[in-house]
Amino acid sequence: MTDEPLPDFPPDFRWGVSTAAYQIEGAAGEDGRGPSIWDTFSHQPDRIGDGSTGDVTCDHYHRYAGDVALMADLGVRTYRFSVAWPRIQPAGQGAPDPRGLAFYDRLVDALLERGIEPAVTLFHWDLPQPLQDAGGWTNRDTAARFGEYAEIVARALGDRVALWMTLNEPFIHFALGHLLGLHAPGRQLLDDPFPVVHHQLLGHGLATAAIRRHASGGVAIANNYSPAWAVGPDGTPDTADGADRAAAVAYDAFHNRLFTDPLLRGRYPDGIDQLAGVDPDRVVLDGDLDIISARLDVLGVNYYQPTGVRAPAPDNPLPFDLTALSGYPTTAFGWPVVPAGLTQTLVMLADRYGDALPPMWITENGCCYDDKPGPDAVVADHDRIAYLDAHIRAVRAALDAGVRVDGYCVWSLLDNWEWAEGFTKRFGLVHVDFDTQRRTPKASYAWYRDLIARTR
Ligand code: NOJ
Repeated sequence: MTDEPLPDFPPDFRWGVSTAAYQIEGAAGEDGRGPSIWDTFSHQPDRIGDGSTGDVTCDHYHRYAGDVALMADLGVRTYRFSVAWPRIQPAGQGAPDPRGLAFYDRLVDALLERGIEPAVTLFHWDLPQPLQDAGGWTNRDTAARFGEYAEIVARALGDRVALWMTLNEPFIHFALGHLLGLHAPGRQLLDDPFPVVHHQLLGHGLATAAIRRHASGGVAIANNYSPAWAVGPDGTPDTADGADRAAAVAYDAFHNRLFTDPLLRGRYPDGIDQLAGVDPDRVVLDGDLDIISARLDVLGVNYYQPTGVRAPAPDNPLPFDLTALSGYPTTAFGWPVVPAGLTQTLVMLADRYGDALPPMWITENGCCYDDKPGPDAVVADHDRIAYLDAHIRAVRAALDAGVRVDGYCVWSLLDNWEWAEGFTKRFGLVHVDFDTQRRTPKASYAWYRDLIARTR
């Protein structure tokens, strides 16, 4: 880690933290909450690495006031959290459950009392199970249901929420949940995956319209981006050949453009018919792309790592193979630590979309390490401090290159339930003992607090 002082950021830059409902709330059966696809998936055998579920996780549903106090002491201006659709509409449609809405009402007020702006994600992967039983995102009707749910939440909280994110990482929900089967709903729709792409985007567009009708805050979406790096047999760009570079272009279209070209350009990238089974004309109806490409106020960027891409093996139906990058330190997930990839992502988006690109926020960036409190109860997570320091400098480098970025949210406030990894991956600025629910701010919490105080 460099000794250079951290560069300045604009005084109104939004420093924040992010979480998601299923990863922190617990209280899975309380106050009328219905089951989501993640309840179903996590209770199936062999789906989650450590056999755990999100039934309790950080118990934030009951401990939110203490968690808001932790954020207030941290000094963040923004808190990005998600609303659990199955708390609002347990069946995924129909009248809202007032108890579910009341929880978010209390949370929003508690944040505002402490001077923290609420930034709400409407869908962070916890689809009500009854909608999945009717086909989930393969069914066009789910997009309409999502628009109705967005309207309910926008009506209830629309006077107090600063920024609305319709979807979180629709690409990851698509790829891990519907192609690889590693996330809920655990499907492998290799022959016909495209409806899951299009219906999520249509849901985004319908939700955007509902938010515009009923809420005053801005509209955003939080996408995952990953620079596609062509690499050769040794996992470095040095040995990549022309076929590897062509594969990287194809992967870039798949990961970085599939969901962003329709949003910002009103059309799908060329070459999507290479996705097995794609027949866009059957799925994309007249007018859909106008709904999808409605104006956005912010593009949310979730960045973790670049992806190493090679030319596909002969038996691979897809036009690329993915491979680990060599030559970088890795987090406890095995993900390479490449801060320059964040600058590259931001510059790439600015170059690619030009005037069509709204201001960006980093809606997630962070890392997991095997953090444990020492004998003095201190969690000395210096790796995380180095990671965040380097990535924040990478954001500054993008600003220096003329790219507009207005906010940065660390993933995550708390150690939490990391999807298929269960409790084994700790991303928090605050350590959570999942047996006692004791919260212990890590060294990175104090470091981030000081950074925010200096730049405020
Ligand atoms: C992105 C997802 O939005 C979040 O839920 C997850 O925990 C982080 N990545 C870390 O994997």
